[in-house]
Amino acid sequence: MNTLIISSSLSKTSRSFILCKAIHSLLQEKGVNTELVDAREMELLPFYKGPTPSMEELSQKVAEADNIIFAMGVHCYSVNDGLKIILDGCCGGVEGKFFGIICAAGGERSYLSTMHLTQICMNEWRMIQLPRIVYATGKDFEDDTISNDDLKDRIKLFTEEFSSIGKKLIS
Ligand SMILES: Cc1cc2nc3c(=O)[nH]c(=O)nc-3n(C[C@H](O)[C@H](O)[C@H](O)COP(=O)(O)O)c2cc1C
Repeated sequence: MNTLIISSSLSKTSRSFILCKAIHSLLQEKGVNTELVDAREMELLPFYKGPTPSMEELSQKVAEADNIIFAMGVHCYSVNDGLKIILDGCCGGVEGKFFGIICAAGGERSYLSTMHLTQICMNEWRMIQLPRIVYATGKDFEDDTISNDDLKDRIKLFTEEFSSIGKKLIS
């Protein structure tokens, strides 16, 4: 199974990227062929000004992946800027694929913000979502480390379910 993890935050201190790294290594331990793409290393341009070479490269990876994990930060109760650019410019090849969502937010009350990503993926591309989201806030971290044991358990559960359902859906 080829799983692509897209970390879309452009923040130098991105917490959703820290979540991505944890899930990336747990998936690797399970023998999943997984790749983590960091949007901070890409040149992102809005749809009508792109695509850039790094966006074309990501489009190719998206097309080749069996399934995808999107990581977002909440911006104004919705998806962050980098993710919207990636969805518009690099996700032509996602039709029908299984996907998961990882989310970092400033506060506990923005958890429904991930629904915008769900709507885009399900309505636009008929994707199938894992019905479990890893949602974390600033309280779950100490510097660049996950400090909340409950969050660590939720990350493990997400990874187990994503890999077992993901494998079933491609076999
Ligand atoms: C422009 C902007 C808007 C934000 N809006 C929200 C919000 O509506 N709700 C919330 O809980 N956090 C909000 N935040 C806080 C971010 O979700 C938080 O910093 C999170 O860690 C971002 O993910 P990242 O660290 O991976 O970039 C906002 C941050 C920025 C920069």
